[in-house]
Amino acid sequence: MITPKKYKGVRDFYPADMAIQQYIFSTMKKVCQQYGYEEYGASILENTEIYRAKTGSEIVNEQTYTFFDRGNREVTIRPEMTPTVARMVAAQSKSLLFPLRWFSIPNLLRYENPQRGRLREHWQLNVDIFGSNNIYSDIEIISVSSNIMIAFGAQKENFEIRIGSRKILNFFLKDSLQLTDDQGYKINKLLDKKNKLSDEAFQTILNDILQDAQKEAQVIQFAQTTDLKELANIIPSEILTDIKILFTTLQKNNINNIIFDASIIRGFDYYTDMIFEVFDTGPENNRSLFGGGRYDNLTNIFGVSDIAACGFGMGDVTIRDYLETYNLLPKIEKTENDIYICVMSEQERNYASKIADQLRKSGKNITIDLSNKKIGKQIQDASKKGFLFIVIIGQNEQENNTYVLKNLETGEEVIENVIEVT
Ligand code: HAM
Repeated sequence: MITPKKYKGVRDFYPADMAIQQYIFSTMKKVCQQYGYEEYGASILENTEIYRAKTGSEIVNEQTYTFFDRGNREVTIRPEMTPTVARMVAAQSKSLLFPLRWFSIPNLLRYENPQRGRLREHWQLNVDIFGSNNIYSDIEIISVSSNIMIAFGAQKENFEIRIGSRKILNFFLKDSLQLTDDQGYKINKLLDKKNKLSDEAFQTILNDILQDAQKEAQVIQFAQTTDLKELANIIPSEILTDIKILFTTLQKNNINNIIFDASIIRGFDYYTDMIFEVFDTGPENNRSLFGGGRYDNLTNIFGVSDIAACGFGMGDVTIRDYLETYNLLPKIEKTENDIYICVMSEQERNYASKIADQLRKSGKNITIDLSNKKIGKQIQDASKKGFLFIVIIGQNEQENNTYVLKNLETGEEVIENVIEVT
């Protein structure tokens, strides 16, 4: 006997879950299309080497499904879409018309310890602009994120966009604190884990890396900065120009649930400048929902330089949890358009099929009973399945070329004449 249990951390979608999944995807798609983004797709398999360069060692070494194919090539099931889309852009960079605005909703696999909000398989909306280093593309990426949340019915007070910058962080670590590359890298990783560590544990690791009380205090102060004005005391104004435009423009566009958060890092090595995370601000589920940022020149790993890029990835698991928490999932119900046909006996089956076909041609969705149960039982089944309307076909109807349309909620019955639809 084989267990019907699924493999740990992956997803089965029974029809009720699939309907929710489709609702989530269609809401995401609608907003992307409103902003002029085009949909693309790709295979789940990639050559492993494309993740080695810039994804970050934790993901590649610990979280990928990697294996050797029958031709001894090392292959990985994609844990994220960004290297794939960068590869696609690099492969046709000569013929593509930049800037590109592209989106996709791929499934991704990461070998994680499954927990709330984190599974081994998730679907992730990826929204990216290639070929523009204009700050207005960063602004657009954040607006798309915000408007997807609004399209799901989220209230602005229930989510917050926390924005940081790799460029500012790197300036602070290298130029202000004069740290070595190795120290800088380690501080990046430490800040990325900050929310998961106690203050003491954070201090201890920080001390191990820096061995300098003054610099340690400066890092702590920097990580707590949530105000651009405060930052102006330690970072030269030319480094802050873009982020200031970003904040004022978003606020002018009525996106004001944004804060600067110097401790936002994000796990991937490829981010180069603005980075952001969208947080659920409620007490029940206070966590990051999704995020992204600018990652100029990732296409360099494919030998194509000077392609700026900016985008984000939004997972279906965290957004579904969010929608459930705030009661924002729509009830997915059958409509007047969905009709269940009950068939009195096998003698009327052909006639019932003919009616079903005609109703389908007129745009209805028709489910025809196959059970041969008593008519009362068929009606009960239709009601349990959520149908509001049924059609009853018996000998009478067949002889008179009619059918009975019944509203299960009101009990009202109407005899309809069959009209041939061609
Ligand atoms: P990421 O932060 O690894 O970024 O993932 C983006 C989002 O995908 C997360 O914030 C979360 O919503 C969802 N996600 C990630 N891992 C899991 C998981 N194991 N289970 C459930 N949901 C998950 C990236 O992947 C970047 N490539 C995004 C990006 C696109 N940056 C620029 N363009």
